[in-house]
Amino acid sequence: MTQPADADPSPGREVWSRRSVFILAAIGSAVGLGNIWRFPYVAYSNGGGAFMIPYLVALLTAGIPLLFLYYSIGHRFKGSPPLAFRRMSKRAEGLGWWQVGICFIIAVYYAVIIAWAARFAIFSAKGDLSSPEKAGDAFGNLTKSDQTSLGFDYVAGVAWPLLITWVVVIAILAFGVQKGIGATAQFFVPVLVVLFIAVVIRALLLDGAGEGLNSLFTPDWGALTDSSVWIAAYGQIFFSLSVGFGIMITYSSYLKRKTNLTGAGLVVGFSNSAFEILAGIGVFAALGYMAAVQGVPVVDVADSGIGLAFVAFPTIISTMWGGSVFGLLFFISLIFAGITSLVSIIEVIISAVRDKTGMRRVPATILVGAAATIVSMVFFPTRSGVSVLDTVDHFANEFGIVGAALTSVVVVTWLLRKLPQQRDHLNGVSSFKLGWIWMACVGVITPIVLAYMLIDQIIDTVQNGYGDYGGGLVAGFGWALQIALIVIAVAVGFTRWHKSADQVIESDDAVAVRS
Ligand code: ALA
Repeated sequence: MTQPADADPSPGREVWSRRSVFILAAIGSAVGLGNIWRFPYVAYSNGGGAFMIPYLVALLTAGIPLLFLYYSIGHRFKGSPPLAFRRMSKRAEGLGWWQVGICFIIAVYYAVIIAWAARFAIFSAKGDLSSPEKAGDAFGNLTKSDQTSLGFDYVAGVAWPLLITWVVVIAILAFGVQKGIGATAQFFVPVLVVLFIAVVIRALLLDGAGEGLNSLFTPDWGALTDSSVWIAAYGQIFFSLSVGFGIMITYSSYLKRKTNLTGAGLVVGFSNSAFEILAGIGVFAALGYMAAVQGVPVVDVADSGIGLAFVAFPTIISTMWGGSVFGLLFFISLIFAGITSLVSIIEVIISAVRDKTGMRRVPATILVGAAATIVSMVFFPTRSGVSVLDTVDHFANEFGIVGAALTSVVVVTWLLRKLPQQRDHLNGVSSFKLGWIWMACVGVITPIVLAYMLIDQIIDTVQNGYGDYGGGLVAGFGWALQIALIVIAVAVGFTRWHKSADQVIESDDAVAVRS
C-alpha cells in the first residue's frame, strides 16, 4: 500500500514546539564534556596552537557539512538512525544500529565524567579540594601503575554521584522530547553560558594566565605532518558537534516539516566551536596561574591527558583566592554541559528502540536507562575505571565515530547516490543554500581524508598499542568492543520491525523520494 506523496512518514512522532527549542537542544548536545574536559587536553597534546588548523579544517570540511547531512537525513526520513537509514535504503539499516551502539558505549563512560564533576563540585562547596587523595578517590584511586593492569575492585566514592546522574537523565528523558529534553535545554544552556563566562573571566584575571594561553596557542608546526594530530582533530570535531553517532539525525527527526535546517546548523556549529575555544582559554589561563604559583613552566603542570580538568584544576582551585566559588562554578558548568549531552546520546538509543519495537516512551526510557546504568556502574567506579574509560573513549571516537561517519558518507554518496536528494531537501526548507561545495565536502573530501586517517591510525595502534596500557585492556575495551558493535549492528539490522513501523517503512519509499 502506498501513501500519498506528501504524507508524514512518522505521523505520531513527537515534535519540538519551536525551532529555537531544537537549536538550544542541539547546542546543549554539542556543548558538552567534549568542549570543556576533552578539547583542552586534545588541543594541548596535539600541537597546541597548530592544532587550530586541523581543527578549523575539520570543522569546515567535515563537521558543518556532515551536520547538514545528518539534519537532512533525520528531517527527511523522520526516524531514529536505524529507521532513517532504512527508509533511505533497507540495506543501510545496520549503519543506524552501529551509531546506536556507539552511543551506548559513549554514554556509559560519559556519565562517569559527570559523576566526577559532581564529586568535585561537592568537594569545592566544602572547601576541601586540597588533599590529593580526594582526586584519587574520585578517580578510582588512579595511579600510574594502575593504568597498565586491570583491577575491578570497586571505588564507592564516584558510585553515588554516578547513580544520581543516571536517575536525573532518565527522569528528563521520561518526560519526552519537548517537556523533558527541550525544557531542560531551555534552562541549562543559557545558565551554562553565563556560569562559564564567569569562570573564564576569573581565570583570565589570575597571575600567569597569559603564560598559560601562550602555552596553549603557541604552535608546534611539526604536529601538522603527524597524521594522528589530524585524526584527533576530526575525532574531536565529531565528538564535540555530536555528528557521526546519530544524535543529529534523531534530534532533527523531531522537527516540523518547514524548518530552516542549514541556518540552524550554522548557529549550532559556530556556537559549539566558540564555546570550545572559550573553554580552552579558561582551562589554560588557570594552568598558567598554577605554573606561576609553583615557579615551573606550564608544560610541567599541564597533565596532557584526561586528568587535566580533574587533577590540575582541583589543585588550582585549592590555592587561589575565592577558589571554592570558582571550583563550584566550574564543576557545575561541567555537570550542566554534560547532562544535556548525555540526554541526547541516550535519546538516540531510546528513539531507535521505540521505532523498532513500538514501545512507549516511559518503558523504553526505563529499559535503556537501566541497561546503561548497570554497565556504567559495573565497569567504571573501579580501580581501573579511568584506564578503561580512556581506552573506550579513544577507540569510540577515533575508530567508532570516524568509522561510522566514513561509512555513512560513502554509503549515502557513492552506493545509494542520495546526496543530490539530500541537498535538494535541505535547500527546499533552508535559507542558506548548498551547492557543489557541500557535495564535494561530504562526498569527496570527507571520505578521502577520513579513510586515509583511519587506516593510518589503525596501523599505528596495531603496531604500537594505545598509551601505556596493557594488551588485554586495549584488545578487550578497544578492538573487541568496536568490532562487536559492528557485528551486533548488522545482526540487529536483520531482525523484524514492530508491525506499525514496518508498515510505514514499506510504504515510505514514495514519501522519501518526494523531497
Ligand atoms: N557533543 C558532546 C560533547 O561535546 C558529546 O561532549
